[in-house]
Amino acid sequence: MSTPVNKVDDLINLGIGQPGPELLPAGLFHSVSVNASHLGYGDAAGDEGFRETLASWLSVEYGQTVLADQLMVTCGSSNGLDMICNQFARPGDTLLVEEPTYFIALKRFADQGLNVVAIPMDQEGVQPGALEEAIVQHNPALIYTIPTFQNPTGISQSSLRRQALVELVKRYQCPLITDDVYQCLYFEQRPAPPLACYDPEAPVLSIGSFSKILAPGLRLGWIQGGGALRLRLIDSPLLNSGGGLAPVTSALVEPIISGGQLSEHLFQLRQTLQVRRDCLHHCIETRLADRLQVNKPQGGYFLWASRTDGGKAIDGLAAAKKAGVAFLGGTLFGSSPQLATSIRLCFARYGVCDLERGCDRLVRALDQESR
Ligand SMILES: Cc1ncc(COP(=O)(O)O)c(C=O)c1O
Repeated sequence: MSTPVNKVDDLINLGIGQPGPELLPAGLFHSVSVNASHLGYGDAAGDEGFRETLASWLSVEYGQTVLADQLMVTCGSSNGLDMICNQFARPGDTLLVEEPTYFIALKRFADQGLNVVAIPMDQEGVQPGALEEAIVQHNPALIYTIPTFQNPTGISQSSLRRQALVELVKRYQCPLITDDVYQCLYFEQRPAPPLACYDPEAPVLSIGSFSKILAPGLRLGWIQGGGALRLRLIDSPLLNSGGGLAPVTSALVEPIISGGQLSEHLFQLRQTLQVRRDCLHHCIETRLADRLQVNKPQGGYFLWASRTDGGKAIDGLAAAKKAGVAFLGGTLFGSSPQLATSIRLCFARYGVCDLERGCDRLVRALDQESR
């Protein structure tokens, strides 16, 4: 039975790519504290003890050795992206992105006056052949990719694809940013490790974050790899003047990692997200299969659905909002007209009851539209 929607605050907003508040483990922070050493200016690369702990944890997570010296601490993935763009690109430079891609990264690149060139994807992520052609043609300052449980498509690059991309950027010495915020959110098989693990000599900077695996309010993340590129970031006036980033937050998170609570939390989080993915995916497949074709990503936050009739998905947005459900239209994620048939739905923010209600409303909105 579908429920009538009268209040705007009853909106089920599947457009929001954030964890639900019940997934934020406030209790883990009750027993952690800082001491005087964390209250001074920190090491430029970030607190060494924290980087040691993070490196050991990532080594287990990735199944690859990560060293503390290959890490620098950031205030989250967005901050890492900002620092890299500021350091390595100037207005008018070209930056290559896969299409579709994270819409806020696109806004960030546009704000800096970068000339963004889109590279097509296939079921294994960005296409190396097209990427190489674009590198030769545009001599880009940077390349940006989301290799694992991509936002918005949920696609993950295979190990072979990762290897090919690493070899490519090494050959052309073109810095590659891999946005790895969803890397640890796998539901079935562990994905191939971040591209920065493949070759320490390659110009690959992996940006990681605690936002999706612990809490976005921490504003804590890291950059891994990149060799000399990372050293240039660490030797910046920002860090020379202000010291390493987030010394207090990293001191609070360190015991949560070393005490095993992060891994326990993540274990539960993956299970919860898997249940939510299954729920939303099942609802769409069983109730909307004639109108929407939906993927089933093996992790992350998002489903990517495309209209089977080739119609514009965004046309349904107003009707959907009226019915009490919202999503993001595909055109936000790039400039190709084809994106207009797709939508991104986040399954991480709501429990199964709300996801089912959201799907009811989506069905109602599409029914109304086709009347
Ligand atoms: C691909 C991607 N990168 C970065 C972010 C933001 O990460 P952070 O909170 O670490 O800045 C998000 C959040 O939605 C994201 O989807």
